[in-house]
This record gives sequence, C-alpha cells and structure tokens, in this order.
Amino acid sequence: MSDRKFFVGGNWKMNGSITQYKSLITDLKNAKLDPKTQVVIAPPALYLLPAKDLLQDNDKIELSAQDGYHKPSGAFTGEISLVQLKDAGIPWVILGHSERRTIFHETDEDVATKTKAALEQGVNVILCVGETLEQREKNESIKVVISQVEAAAKNINDWSKVVIAYEPVWAIGTGKVATAEQAEEVHKAIRDWLAKSVSAEVAKTERIIYGGSVNGKNAKELASQPDIDGFLVGGASLKPEFVDIVNARL
Ligand code: PGA
Repeated sequence: MSDRKFFVGGNWKMNGSITQYKSLITDLKNAKLDPKTQVVIAPPALYLLPAKDLLQDNDKIELSAQDGYHKPSGAFTGEISLVQLKDAGIPWVILGHSERRTIFHETDEDVATKTKAALEQGVNVILCVGETLEQREKNESIKVVISQVEAAAKNINDWSKVVIAYEPVWAIGTGKVATAEQAEEVHKAIRDWLAKSVSAEVAKTERIIYGGSVNGKNAKELASQPDIDGFLVGGASLKPEFVDIVNARL
C-alpha cells in the first residue's frame, strides 16, 4: 500500500435541508473515523457557512464547494466565485463533475480555467474526469480520461493541491459500480500519464480517487487496489454507511 493519505469526499449534490445537514454533520462528528483518512464534505453552497460553524470545534472534517466560477466578481447571476470561496474560508472545490459537464455544458476549457482560478486563490481542487458508457463501449475510456486530465494539467503547477477523481459517468448514481479491475486500470493509466508528462514525484504522490456508486459494501475491495487512493461519494454520503467508506482501509 502506498503512503498517500486516503481521501474520502462526500458530494451531497443538490440534496438536503437545514435539518438534514445539521444531523448529517453532527453524526459524522460523533462517528469513529479512521484518523488516517482525509474527509471532505461538499454540501450545497447555501449550507457551507453554517456547516463551517458546526464544524468549528472539529479538525477532522473539511468542507468543499461543488463548483466555483473563475471570475472574481461581477454580473454573473447565480454564480459563486473562487475568490468568494477563499474569503469564506472554504478550502476545497469540486470542479468538472460530470453533472456540470453534461447538464450545464461545461467544457474541458471551462474546467481548466476554473482550476487555474482555484489554485490562484489557494483553494484545493477535486478534479473530476470520466468517460460515458458509449465511450467505454468504444474502448475509449483511457483516451477520454487522459485528455480531460491533460486539459486541466496545463493550468496546474502545484499538484499537491489537486486530487483527481475518476468517475465513470455510467457508474454515477446508477448503482453500477466499476469493478476494482476496471477502476484500477484507469487509475494506473492516469498515474502513468503523470509520470510521463508531469514528473515521477507527482505520479508517486498524487491522490487518484474513484467515484460512482461507491457504498459501504464495495468500498473495501476498491480501496485495496494499489492506485485507488480514496473515493468521491454521492448517494451514500447522505447515509450512515459513509462512515464505513471513510473507514474502508481499517
Ligand atoms: P454516486 O455519485 O456515489 O451517487 O454514484 C458519485 C458522484 O457523483 O460524485
């Protein structure tokens, strides 16, 4: 097993209510979490600051936004900028999630621009990449994923502030998890690409996490793969089994 710190993110997406976020965070604070796992939760933007208050006395659970806009301020109704996230003390942002790419038509170029803006603000990035079912069936998974990583990589000069999340689109929210072998193959391809195109050191230290229908039952096998360094969890991050995912390496 590598000495990369295991990383588990909880992406709540557009779910929850005031009552629910309070109870989810309180339960998580009271849970026995593997101290060797880095835990980051991403509630809807509306709940980030009250969540921060709730987590004030806790140094184990960090917060992430689910997106951030690259312009610092201005007439961009509905957006929240990376400058504002930094100002609010939110240390992480998810960028390039497949729902942003598919539903909101974000391109590789948009994701690269946002990545640049996040790193300029010192906000850590969970960079999401992944192929569609059609692309997998055409045997294009690795090509697609590498081109998505490559597009953002041109704007990344500090890889220690970036976690790459491999999330096959066909596995997100579908209950169809990638097999450990399928995930490992892509993770290894990303790591090999980093070794070739960035540096051996970055390839060795970069966390590459898996997302797509991870749950309390399948997490352990996935976590045992040499190039899987954690998870980005959607549905199961709203359930008690999130704790089992955080503890997958125990
Ligand atoms: P899921 O979502 O765990 O519900 O499949 C993962 C994600 O979108 O990050």
